[in-house]
This record gives sequence, structure tokens and C-alpha cells, in this order.
Amino acid sequence: MSETNGGGLALVGYRGTGKSTVGRLLAERTGRTFVDVDDAIVARAGRTIRAIFEESGEPAFREIEEAVVRDLIAAHPDGILGTGGGTIVREANRRAIRGHGFVAWLQADADELARRLEADSATRETRPSLTSKGALAEIAEVLEYRTPFYREVAHLVVDAQSRGPAEVADLILEHWTRARGVPKPGVTPPCS
Ligand code: S3P
Repeated sequence: MSETNGGGLALVGYRGTGKSTVGRLLAERTGRTFVDVDDAIVARAGRTIRAIFEESGEPAFREIEEAVVRDLIAAHPDGILGTGGGTIVREANRRAIRGHGFVAWLQADADELARRLEADSATRETRPSLTSKGALAEIAEVLEYRTPFYREVAHLVVDAQSRGPAEVADLILEHWTRARGVPKPGVTPPCS
């Protein structure tokens, strides 16, 4: 998979890889709108993600998520879409995300993600457990299961472990610009 379909950008990756931070930075730099799947789910359901998981279960959450992905892409075809860590598990979502445009996969290993999620005070409030295992074992297992799905949708894999969000955003912008065949500002295209 190398060609892009739509004119938008989607960020995929596990929880804690920095999708929302990087998405906002990219929106600032490009003047495009950043839309976040998790935020739109909370707005639509009128409940936190944790409450949706606890009261209605993960399958109900995934139904809302699929509808939200479809609607956000339709409403913001040129937008920067921040997905949830598990959005790519459903085939319909993978198709929608690929159709949206350029897809960047933000990658970090399980140990680093466990450290980041542990350090994030919002995690306990907003991020429901996905398995009954401890944090690191859960991340390792779920990440392994999801890796082929991230790989399937991604045009670009970015090491978001050793890079900060600004550097990740720069890299994505560079590759996305190249994929669209748009010259970077200040670079004159060769004359024919
Ligand atoms: C989930 C990740 C979360 C959110 C929900 C489920 C997952 O998104 O969609 O808690 O299955 O990995 P973030 O990756 O934005 O935290």
C-alpha cells in the first residue's frame, strides 16, 4: 500500500503514542481541522469512554466508534483524524481510514507505552482496561494482536518512542507532502 486515496490525514497507533498531541500540532501547521474519534464518541454518547465500557460494554463502544469514524470523515474530508487505539480492528474502519487519505502509524514499544500511561493521570479516569491482565501484559498482548492491522492501513510508520511530538509531526508532514506531490514551501519544482 503506498498510494493515498483521499486528501485527509489519519493518525493510528496504540494508546499513549501521542496521536492527539501530534494531530493538534499538524492542524496548527497546516491550517486544517483536527478531529478526534474519542472526543466525538464522548460528545455523541454524552458519557465518558469509561462509562460507555462499564455500562454498555466494549461492543456497544465499537458500534458508536464505527459510526463516528464514518461521520467525521464525511464531515471533514480534508481533516486530520485522530483515531482511538483500537479503531483499526474493524475492517470497515480500516477501509474508511484508508479512503480518508494518508495514514501515519505512531509506534512505541510496550514498556514505553506502559510507562507513559502510568505517568498520565487521566488514564485511570478515561481509559478503561481492555483485558483483565496487568497494564504491561495487557499492552503487550493487545499490541501484538493489533500490529498487523496498524501495518495494513499505514502509509508511514513513525518511531514515536525516541521522538517528541513536534519531531513526529515534522516527519509526517514531510512524508505526507511528498506523497501528495506538493512541493514544500520555498522549494522550486524543476522546470520542464
Ligand atoms: C482504546 C483506546 C482509546 C479509546 C478507548 C479504547 C483501545 O483511545 O478509544 O479507550 O481499544 O485501545 P486512545 O488511543 O486515544 O487512548
